[in-house]
Amino acid sequence: MSIVYLNGDYLEKDDAKVSVLDRGFIFGDGVYEVIPCYGSHLFRLDQHLQRLSDSLSGIRLINPLSHSQWVDVLEEIVRRNNDNNADQSIYLQVTRGVAKRDHAFPDKVSPTIFIMSNPMDPVSNDKLEKGISAISHEDIRWRYCHIKSIALLPNTMMRQVAREAGADEAILDRDGKITEGAASNVFIVKDDTIITPPKDDCLLPGITRDLILEIAASADLNYTEADISIKELQTADEIWLTSSTKEILPVTQLDGVAVGNGKPGPHWKDMLARYQQYKKRLRSGDAH
Ligand code: PDD
Repeated sequence: MSIVYLNGDYLEKDDAKVSVLDRGFIFGDGVYEVIPCYGSHLFRLDQHLQRLSDSLSGIRLINPLSHSQWVDVLEEIVRRNNDNNADQSIYLQVTRGVAKRDHAFPDKVSPTIFIMSNPMDPVSNDKLEKGISAISHEDIRWRYCHIKSIALLPNTMMRQVAREAGADEAILDRDGKITEGAASNVFIVKDDTIITPPKDDCLLPGITRDLILEIAASADLNYTEADISIKELQTADEIWLTSSTKEILPVTQLDGVAVGNGKPGPHWKDMLARYQQYKKRLRSGDAH
């Protein structure tokens, strides 16, 4: 059973239909969010809805629902897809809607709102024990990467290049500075300091990224938001990738070369333990 939300209705996934003229289909004209749900608790919901609202203003689309309406429909999707309180990954997207094909925005059009739930697969023990591999790649995307746009062709291409090189992720470099991964944010550890690039329009302001910085601040760990050069990436003691679905993954091979001693590092282990602690509090309703 998989119940989705489409424009006000709750439907079986196979019964949900969108017009071929939807601007999401024709132009990739829309934005999205991926929100983990642990037990029946949506992870950092206010932050995800704030980023959704920022993405919508970034593409000049009026937010079709109020904050409390979003909370209601998301909680209803979680409830309808609840399978013994298993973790869910909630995907939502808003497109500009259905209109005759024309690049400029149509005058009168209602946005298409779609939400689905997928099972949240835990990260494999193998990846946690051995780490993952990444390649470095030129960042070939546009200049509004802070908008969580559904137009993901460059991201899918770079992930595919990584896959074909036998790696798990591509870490992107724009003019000598690391921006992020094809679908993740990047951290390095150098001399016991956790470093991630500052937020700007070259990267997505990851919700997981922000939580890691919050955890680092409250635990009094050394951290900083600073540019990372390709050389600093190559000589880092540890590299981590973060996202809602993958949490925090240690990169132990970069372009076929071992990162640090080639094993997941102690700072990653410590941060992952703190992150799991946070999730435990979230499940028991003590955190959001
Ligand atoms: N992507 N940067 C990019 C380009 C991403 O696509 C993602 C996540 C992130 C991490 O953001 P967050 O911590 O908020 O998940 C950074 C999602 C998971 C996806 O497209 O499936």
